[in-house]
Amino acid sequence: MMHNTILITGASSGLGRALAQTLARPGRRLWLGGRNTARLEDTARNCISRGAAVHLNTCDVTDRAAMAQWVQGTGGLDMVLACAGITGGTRKPLAPDAPAIEPEAQIRRIFETDLTGVLNTVLPALEMMQNQPRAADGMRGRICAISSVAGLVSFPGTPAYSAAKAAVDRFMVATGGNAKKAGILLSSVVCGFLDTPMVARNTFPMPGLTDVNSACRRILRGLARNERRITFPLWLAAGSRLMDLLPIALAEAYYNNQPAGAAGSMPAPDLS
Ligand SMILES: NC(=O)c1ccc[n+]([C@@H]2O[C@H](COP(=O)([O-])OP(=O)(O)OC[C@H]3O[C@@H](n4cnc5c(N)ncnc54)[C@H](OP(=O)(O)O)[C@@H]3O)[C@@H](O)[C@H]2O)c1
Repeated sequence: MMHNTILITGASSGLGRALAQTLARPGRRLWLGGRNTARLEDTARNCISRGAAVHLNTCDVTDRAAMAQWVQGTGGLDMVLACAGITGGTRKPLAPDAPAIEPEAQIRRIFETDLTGVLNTVLPALEMMQNQPRAADGMRGRICAISSVAGLVSFPGTPAYSAAKAAVDRFMVATGGNAKKAGILLSSVVCGFLDTPMVARNTFPMPGLTDVNSACRRILRGLARNERRITFPLWLAAGSRLMDLLPIALAEAYYNNQPAGAAGSMPAPDLS
């Protein structure tokens, strides 16, 4: 499959931007989404300088109708990369006896962006690809959503993020078996920390922090090999899977003692 038409959400920053720039070349048509127009245009300029044709869409992934319209309006896609996402952690309690939990607005926004936003991207693409002809390799298209190693564990530092990413991973992999028979690859990226603006203000150590260009190469290699789950770093994912087998109290005691697990250790996300 040639992958000449590609749609990317979250293309205004971090991983989505790096994927767009890596994929940009003559003969490629890129549909790039994000909310920040200036940063999206910055990505576009770079992609155009590499020879790609670029269409921009400053739309919010939580807007289901607008996302469906955008995907359908492309007229056909070889690949979709659902990268848009936000993160956030538990906050320090306001009173001594209050629980250290996430504010409701943050919990809802993380689910709306990281889970519903992915569905708003993936489902219209899945519907459209079913009507596309198969390429020489038997594939009609590839759709990839970015999950996280955080989705492998019930991490007390980022409960909503862990839950949303777990749901994305399970949905993509569970639906992927039947989709693949119809020539559509659904793939989930289970990655550890990536060196992007999302984590730039974190003050705690980030084990296995991967530079974004290496992450791009690993993701694109996985997609070329039709991997349903693209996992890196493997040692971090394996350790997280093992942690999830422990009794809850034991795993929690460990995570609560990690700098990233402490309430207030992550900067609050921009919920505006
Ligand atoms: N960085 C990490 O350590 C890490 C680890 C595992 C997984 N991930 C996942 O990787 C993906 C990319 O994250 P990143 O690290 O590249 O973060 P980033 O640099 O903060 O980029 C996030 C992107 O998502 C877009 N976005 C956020 N909310 C949106 C919304 N409601 N509608 C449309 N676009 C929205 C942002 O667009 P605007 O800025 O234009 O709004 C931006 O382009 C995310 O799904 C993240 O959860 C990241």
